[in-house]
Amino acid sequence: MSNEKLVTVSVIKADIGSIAGHHKVHPDTMAAAARVLAEAKRKGLIIDYYVTHVGDDLELIMTHRKGVDNPDIHGLAWDAFKKAAEVAKELGLYAAGQDLLSDAFSGNVRGLGPGVAEMEFEERPSEPIVVFMADKTEPGAFNFPIFRIFADPFNTAGLVIDPKMHDGFKFEVLDLYEGKYVILNAPEEMYDLLALIGTPSRYVIKRVYRKRDDEIAAVVSSEKLNMIAGRYVGKDDPVAIVRAQSGFPAVGEILEPFSFPHLVAGWMRGSHWGPLMPVSLRDAKCTRFDGPPRIVALGFNVTRGRLIGPVDLFDDPAFDEARRLAQQIADYMRRHGPFMPHRLSPEDMEYTTMPQVLEKLKNRFVEAKDYTKAGQGRTQGETYE
Ligand code: F6R
Ligand code: MG
Ligand code: MG
Repeated sequence: MSNEKLVTVSVIKADIGSIAGHHKVHPDTMAAAARVLAEAKRKGLIIDYYVTHVGDDLELIMTHRKGVDNPDIHGLAWDAFKKAAEVAKELGLYAAGQDLLSDAFSGNVRGLGPGVAEMEFEERPSEPIVVFMADKTEPGAFNFPIFRIFADPFNTAGLVIDPKMHDGFKFEVLDLYEGKYVILNAPEEMYDLLALIGTPSRYVIKRVYRKRDDEIAAVVSSEKLNMIAGRYVGKDDPVAIVRAQSGFPAVGEILEPFSFPHLVAGWMRGSHWGPLMPVSLRDAKCTRFDGPPRIVALGFNVTRGRLIGPVDLFDDPAFDEARRLAQQIADYMRRHGPFMPHRLSPEDMEYTTMPQVLEKLKNRFVEAKDYTKAGQGRTQGETYE
């Protein structure tokens, strides 16, 4: 049902193919997607849109009055991705249609489909939002910064100073393995919250609400991750929307956690820990070891549903030191090569191609007791075949 007071922001993304590996979206594919959205805007299905990319992910930012999970809006995004994928195929781009076709292979377990972050709210007189888009990582990568934005007074001065925020925020956490949600309040249940979200491969922050009035404050893409037989299969480069100012964290408080390039899972072959580097759109392309994982922040004002902006928020020398630190961490982590903790834990590697490699070694293992006997035999002068 369309309600003129409410506006919905939908950020829907997919990897439909990229130039020279999993590196960067081709401008012609973005143009193809933008044509589909322009037509939908003309017809009045959406109010406004902005098409961009981060690394190999094509990002559609849309506003409309149809609410979250609307089939027309999701269908529109699907059409835009399809059209973009057709262009990607025609250009012979790498992994064309990766997130749309089940027969395309990309190193991770396939068939993920597009990622979605959507929120509906009543527009304030001025409605600033920040749209985050990351490549070469997973939704749990947002646990650390979202916690700091909405629960850490050392990050967000407003938690202490602003009466509208002083009661704290509610965190909706999704257990990706069980497909279950739990809501925890901060600051009261902060330690319980951390007990969960400190395991970002399993527990992801899905939404945050302001406690005093239940206003939606943030949403992260995570519901589209595949869960097959109760297990989380594959990774999905995540997006998030955060509302700012006037009783929500200030834009500067929302960006502040990214001054520390924390370690996230993803990077090469979705199999390595690496620093999350905050970058401008210009640098939103993955090179070194297919990374390091990157994140872009675009600021908009939503005005009667129109998207005013964007401003490219990490395009700023204030984040140079974070980028430099990320480079140093990348060097340090890379020196571990194929060893943990650079490589993900065995549980997380189950969702990569590595089990196929381990499978062929299975029959070559000898029982330890038999092996010991053989070893003793050798010391007694016996030889192996
Ligand atoms: C990680 C990613 C890349 C690929 C890697 C191998 O999310 O997209 O690191 O996993 O480039 O790709 P394929 O197997 O397609 O050659
Ligand atoms: Mg890709
Ligand atoms: Mg990607």
